[in-house]
Amino acid sequence: MDATQAVPLLVASQLTKSFGGTPVLRAVDLEIGRGECVALIGPSGSGKSTLLHCLGGLERPDGGSLTFDGQPFAELTDEALADLRRRRLSSIFQFFHLLPTLTAEENIAFPLRLLGLDRQIRESRVNELLEQTKLTSRRAAFPHELSGGEQQRVAIARALIIHPAMILADEPTGNLDSTTGNVILDLIESLTETYETALLLVTHSREATRVCHRTLRMRDGQLDHAD
Ligand SMILES: Nc1ncnc2c1ncn2[C@@H]1O[C@H](COP(=O)(O)OP(=O)(O)O)[C@@H](O)[C@H]1O
Ligand SMILES: [Mg+2]
Repeated sequence: MDATQAVPLLVASQLTKSFGGTPVLRAVDLEIGRGECVALIGPSGSGKSTLLHCLGGLERPDGGSLTFDGQPFAELTDEALADLRRRRLSSIFQFFHLLPTLTAEENIAFPLRLLGLDRQIRESRVNELLEQTKLTSRRAAFPHELSGGEQQRVAIARALIIHPAMILADEPTGNLDSTTGNVILDLIESLTETYETALLLVTHSREATRVCHRTLRMRDGQLDHAD
């Protein structure tokens, strides 16, 4: 193990965040290892999405420190943070957030536009992920022509296309029936393992916690172990 691998991928220490004077995150400590899969549960309004936004660099915490891949977020400009997000971090959402005017294939390929990879590499990655998410025959379909499960499969492929170090998934099965949701969870679990991608998975489903290495619970802006 070299020196970089000994450091956890993500270290959050004493993170705080308030909105309009109301504390939402209260001194949150969290470490996620490379390739580790962590479930995050907790009631609505407890601060789960806010934590994900801070970890993903979309929101700056008010206090505490955050280090990703050995890089303290506080030392990064907004520009550098956006670049890190484009290259190393992906998100999956409850409502898919696909671009409606692009086909499935174009949505999946979209994050690669900014990375300056050769066309051959881009095409082979897209084809591989279309296959892995069983979307090859749906590649030319637009989001409105796809089922919810198919749309989430596009979003999973799009998240993995950059080969990110970590995926932040915010209730990715929250808008799907339970059978489809379980298929989606299994796919997220198996593909993050294949790509050795760390995963922080926010979920209301107890079922989801079975695919993860450990489960954390958020309660009133504080985290504790749930198992
Ligand atoms: N941008 C924001 N502005 C004001 N309040 C917010 C904002 N984002 C979240 N909140 C508040 O923070 C609390 C936690 O929200 P959130 O992180 O979305 O919880 P969860 O994802 O666990 O449901 C809620 O009371 C919510 O209303
Ligand atoms: Mg939320």
